[in-house]
Amino acid sequence: MSSPTSGIVYRPRRLRTTPRMRRLVAEHRLHAADLVLPLFVKEGIDAPAPIASMPGQVQHTEASLRDAVAEAARAGVGGVMLFGIPAERDATGTAGDGPDGILQRGLRVAREAVAAVEGETGAPGPVVMADTCLDEFTDHGHCGVLADDGTVDNDATLERYATMAVAQARAGADVVSPSGMMDGQVAVIRDALDDAGFADVSVLAYSAKYASAFYGPFRDAVDSALQGDRRTYQMDAANSREGLREADLDLAEGADMVMVKPAGTSLDVLRGVADRSDVPVAAYQVSGEYAMIEAAAANGWIDRRAAVLESVLAIKRAGADVVLTYWATEIAEWIK
Ligand code: PBG
Repeated sequence: MSSPTSGIVYRPRRLRTTPRMRRLVAEHRLHAADLVLPLFVKEGIDAPAPIASMPGQVQHTEASLRDAVAEAARAGVGGVMLFGIPAERDATGTAGDGPDGILQRGLRVAREAVAAVEGETGAPGPVVMADTCLDEFTDHGHCGVLADDGTVDNDATLERYATMAVAQARAGADVVSPSGMMDGQVAVIRDALDDAGFADVSVLAYSAKYASAFYGPFRDAVDSALQGDRRTYQMDAANSREGLREADLDLAEGADMVMVKPAGTSLDVLRGVADRSDVPVAAYQVSGEYAMIEAAAANGWIDRRAAVLESVLAIKRAGADVVLTYWATEIAEWIK
């Protein structure tokens, strides 16, 4: 008598029989060096301030930023992405490009912390990246400057991004990351960096960035002043082809890396961009994705560690070479 499955030639379950077999045949793996930790540094506070909607994350002082970057460096994290929260805001986001603006101060601190740990360990530390956008610096909270009719003025904003990018490069950013979804932002920033003598500073373009409800906790993290939404510049979640087109444009403008964001709700777009991109592809697991898992875990509804690892692995599986995640240091410690 033959068994019910004797006619089956190939049994996929064979490769799932033991942990050692599953480890051998895993197609994707998490590496600390593929992870980038987003960090917030705030001007004028004397102690780190917890972010209520992002349990475990804080607005850093310069001193606590130094410690967080050093911790990430020792854990082997591949990059840090800095956001600055200024004490004063105005219509054009003046604090965004001053040499002593909080983001520039944070970048210098981060570079020092990376150099210190590299000196101790002899291993490469995290690449230092800066968010190149005006929304943290404007009093209206938009990612650009406004025209008289209240709309975001694309070309006037590009001039601001160019000076911001140069200020960030001067402060030590290895990578500048335009996240405002203005048309032409990569080309303008590339030109400005080259003209200022920063040909080696890379541009990580937020290429397919969707207007998303999942940025909600981030708005708390940066004390955002925004009323309304960003739907005239960020993409509509209904569109996928348009995300590929945006990535193509950024590649043509000279982006060194392209990004899709939010990661978890754009895995199809991420796969599409990864398939056509010949530069590294990043994906940003955003504040709302972080908050959802943290909240469910805090209620005992989900296994926190398993959910964190699965969520990031899924983003890699969809095609990301680099993942920005608020869990970067913690994951790096787990997988050491
Ligand atoms: C813009 C920017 C935002 C995020 C990263 N860069 C906010 C926005 O576009 O509204 C969101 C990141 C997150 O939610 O974790 N400076």
